[in-house]
Amino acid sequence: MYSKSELVKILSDNDKENNKKIFELADKVRRENVGDEVHLRGLIEFSNICRCSCKYCGLRSPNTSIDRYRLDKNTIIELCEHAVEMGYKTIVLQSGEDAYYSADVLTEIIKEIKKLDVALTLSLGERSFEEYKAFKDAGADRYLIRIETTDKELYKKMHPNMSFENRVRCLLDIKKLGYEVGTGCLVGLPGQTVESLADDILFFKELDADMVGIGPFIPHPATPLKEAETGDFDLALKVMALTRIMLPDINIPATTAMETINPNGRIIALQSGANVVMPNVTSTQYRPKYEIYPNKICLNDNPDKCRGCIEGKIRSIGRVIGTDKGFHKRK
Ligand code: SAM
Ligand code: SF4
Ligand code: FES
Repeated sequence: MYSKSELVKILSDNDKENNKKIFELADKVRRENVGDEVHLRGLIEFSNICRCSCKYCGLRSPNTSIDRYRLDKNTIIELCEHAVEMGYKTIVLQSGEDAYYSADVLTEIIKEIKKLDVALTLSLGERSFEEYKAFKDAGADRYLIRIETTDKELYKKMHPNMSFENRVRCLLDIKKLGYEVGTGCLVGLPGQTVESLADDILFFKELDADMVGIGPFIPHPATPLKEAETGDFDLALKVMALTRIMLPDINIPATTAMETINPNGRIIALQSGANVVMPNVTSTQYRPKYEIYPNKICLNDNPDKCRGCIEGKIRSIGRVIGTDKGFHKRK
C-alpha cells in the first residue's frame, strides 16, 4: 500500500519504463484478485435532461444546443429485455439529474427490471436518503456516483450550486443502505494537481468502495471549459492502475472516455488493472444526444454491434466474459 507521498511521486513520474512497471503490477494484482473474467454491464442512457451545471459536462442545463430526451418506462424495459437476450447480467441506468423520474416512477421501473433476473446499477446523481432507500427497497443493487475530485476548492469551481459535503453524504447514504458503492474521479480537470489525485485514490480506499471508475476529462465545445486541454491518457491510466493496487479486489471499468481519447483505450485499461466494461445498450437514435463530451465512441452503432465488438476485443487479449452478475467479491 502506498502513502500519499509515494502516490504523488509515482503520479509525477514521466519515465515510460517506470510507468510500464506500475501498469504491469496493476495487471498482476488484477489477475491474482479478480481473475481473467471481464464483467459486462449494459448501459442505458435514459435521459439527458439535467438540472445541474457541472462546468465540464455537455448535458449541463445551460447548454441549449442539445436536443433533450427522456425514455418512458416501456422503452427502458424493452432495452433491458434486449440486453438480457444479448447475455448481459447487469443493467446500468444512467441519466442527468432529471426530477421527472420521481421515486414512484423509478421504483416501478426498477421492479420491472428486477423481474429479468439481472443486477441493477443506478447512476442518477444526488438524491435524498429516502429516495435512495426507495430504490434499494425496489431492488436496485448498486449505485454509481463519482466524487469527481476531492479537492474541495476545485469541486466548488466545477460544480455551481452543488456542494462537496452533499456529494459525500450521498455516498455515505448509499453505503448505509447496503448498495454496492461505485465512485470515481475525472483526471485532467483544469487546475487539478497530482496531490489531489493522490487524495482521490486515498478517498476511494477510505470509503471502501466496491467499484471505481476513472476517466480523462474531455472538453466539450458548449461548456465553459471548451478551451481547456484534454486530460492525459497515461495519467488517467496511472490513477486507475494505482487504484487497483490500493483496492485489489474491487471492480474497475475500462471507461468509454479512455477509448474516446485513445483508439485502444479500453483494452489498454483492461491490461492495466480494469476488469469491467460498460457497453452502450441505448438505441442508436439517442446516442448522439447523450453527448457528455465530444467524439464519444459507438455513436452510430447499435447494441448488438457493441456487444459483438467488445467480446471480440476481450477474447483477443486472452480474457473471458464473466458469466455471473459480477458482484464485488471481497477477499
Ligand atoms: N448525472 C449523473 C452524475 O453526474 O453522477 C450521472 C451521469 S454523468 C454524465 C456521468 C459522468 O460523466 C460524471 O460522473 C462525470 O465524471 C462524467 N463526465 C461528464 N462530463 C465529462 C467530460 N467532459 N469528460 C469526461 N467525463 C465527463
Ligand atoms: Fe448533470 Fe451529471 Fe452532467 Fe453534472 S455530470 S451536468 S450532474 S449529467
Ligand atoms: Fe460499440 Fe465497439 S463497443 S462499436
